[in-house]
Order: sequence, then C-alpha cells, then structure tokens
Amino acid sequence: MNGQDMFQHPFHLRGKSVLVTGASSGIGRAVALECARAGARVVITGRDQARLAQTLALLGTAPGAEPGQASGHVCCAADLTDPAQMADLVAACGALDGVVHAAGVHGVAPLRMLRQSFMQMVLDANFLAPLMLTQLLLAKKSLRNGASLVFMSSIAAHTGTVGVGPYSASKAALEGMIGPLALEIAPRAMRANAIAPGLVDTPLVNEDRAWLDEKAKMYPLGLGTPEDVAYTAIYLLADISRKVTGTRLHLDGGIPWT
Ligand SMILES: NC(=O)c1ccc[n+]([C@@H]2O[C@H](COP(=O)([O-])OP(=O)(O)OC[C@H]3O[C@@H](n4cnc5c(N)ncnc54)[C@H](OP(=O)(O)O)[C@@H]3O)[C@@H](O)[C@H]2O)c1
Repeated sequence: MNGQDMFQHPFHLRGKSVLVTGASSGIGRAVALECARAGARVVITGRDQARLAQTLALLGTAPGAEPGQASGHVCCAADLTDPAQMADLVAACGALDGVVHAAGVHGVAPLRMLRQSFMQMVLDANFLAPLMLTQLLLAKKSLRNGASLVFMSSIAAHTGTVGVGPYSASKAALEGMIGPLALEIAPRAMRANAIAPGLVDTPLVNEDRAWLDEKAKMYPLGLGTPEDVAYTAIYLLADISRKVTGTRLHLDGGIPWT
C-alpha cells in the first residue's frame, strides 16, 4: 500500500460499474452524476433520449470530476416496462457492481376513481420493472460477487395520504421484496437495500411549487434534494456498507410519519 492509498477515504466507488435507472431526471440523474464523481463507471438509462443525453453530457463535467474520471460511461434508453427493451439494456451493461433502481412514476388516484389499468401501470413501473430487471441481471450473470442493489422506495409506503394509494402500494410491494431478495443473494456477498425518502424536490413532485412549498413546512430539516438521496445511495453501493443488507433507510428530513 503506498502513502496515497493509505490515506484514501473509503467512501468511494472507484473501480465499480453502476447501473442507474431513471437517470434522465431528478434523483436518478443526481445518483448518476454523484456516482461518477465518486469514481464509478455508470450505465445510465431512462426513456427520454434527449434528457438522457443531457445527463451523459453532464457526466463529463460533473463538479469535482477528475480528468479522465468520466470515461467509459454507457447510455442506453429503455422503457423498463417493455421486456425487449429491458433485455437490450442488460446486454449493453457489461459486468456490474451495483444498481440503483431510481426509475418510477408518481401514480395518484383516489380509490373511487382508480382504474385497474392505471393501477397496473403504476405497479409495472414501480414494482415489477425493478424486480424483473434484477432477475434478468442475475440470470445473465451481469452482477459481480459483492454487488449492491439499491431500490428507491418512499415514506409513502408507510403513510396514508388521500389519493396516494396506488403509489404507496407499489412502494410497499417493493419493500416487501427486499428482505427475501437479500437472503437469496447473500451467498454471493450481494446485498439489497431500499432508500425511503420523504418529499424530494424533483419534477415528480415540483410541478405545483406552491403546494411543495407548503409541504416543505412539515419537514424539520427541510425537503430532500436529489443529491441527499444520491449520497445515501453511494453509502449503500460502497464497500463500507458491506454488512448492511435487507434494510430500508429513511431519508425523511425528520418529518413525523410513524
Ligand atoms: N421526488 C420525490 O419526492 C420522491 C420521494 C420518494 C421516492 N421517490 C422515488 O424516487 C425515484 C425517482 O423519482 P424522481 O423524483 O427523480 O422522479 P422524476 O424526476 O420524475 O424521474 C423519474 C425517472 O423515472 C424514469 N421512468 C419512469 N417510468 C419509466 C419506465 N417505464 N421505464 C424507464 N424509466 C422510467 C423517468 O424516465 P423518463 O423521464 O426518461 O421517461 C425518469 O428518469 C422514483 O422511484 C420515486 O418514486 C421520489
């Protein structure tokens, strides 16, 4: 070990390849940029080609990125509710040390107005897509031993807000898979964890700025930023958390919701 290595902080992703879904916007974009800053090669995916290309361009200029650090990133657009597009994405990934499943839709409808097709769409995007992507990555042996899987849940999985039922149900279902999956992949030193943020200022929720500003007053530590979530994801992806699995990490700014 040389002097430089001896003093390197362990909170890094150097040498790792990380797939980030939902990287065309909000939390996924921040996760991709911060993972690259932490030294990872990232594979970014989302549906919107133009916004995905913007993320790729930002990867090269991420603040703090060291020269040469941003090379080798891969960009592959895919609708994760389409099995064929998911298969193309997995083929493009190469070997991975981590996955952050940030893709998701909001999905708000009170029960009296809920259509089954809408509920199915929310479940497809928020629950089945990350699950089936994980299954395919395992089947194709795309995940290296020790890989860390991070799923984006929400405190909505545990709270009751009028109209948010479809979204809450999809996140609760996702969290239900974490424990069993963690046990299933532990023999290969792989890990599965969820992050459950409260409100985070992204296009998913910030269309009505006045509403969001009002909600922000309920958060003792203020609303989350996409970077807050990204730093938590980096902790779960890095080797420093190698004994942490099967958990849900709340990132809720202290809002009393239990
Ligand atoms: N913002 C919050 O307050 C908050 C709080 C708790 C949890 N979360 C969770 O955090 C995650 C990211 O949310 P965000 O706030 O960053 O939302 P966002 O800005 O709206 O981004 C959502 C991302 O998901 C992608 N996506 C949606 N459906 C997809 C599909 N079928 N196939 C592939 N990609 C798809 C979108 O791709 P395109 O735009 O390219 O279509 C976009 O990149 C979600 O799982 C969300 O539930 C958010």
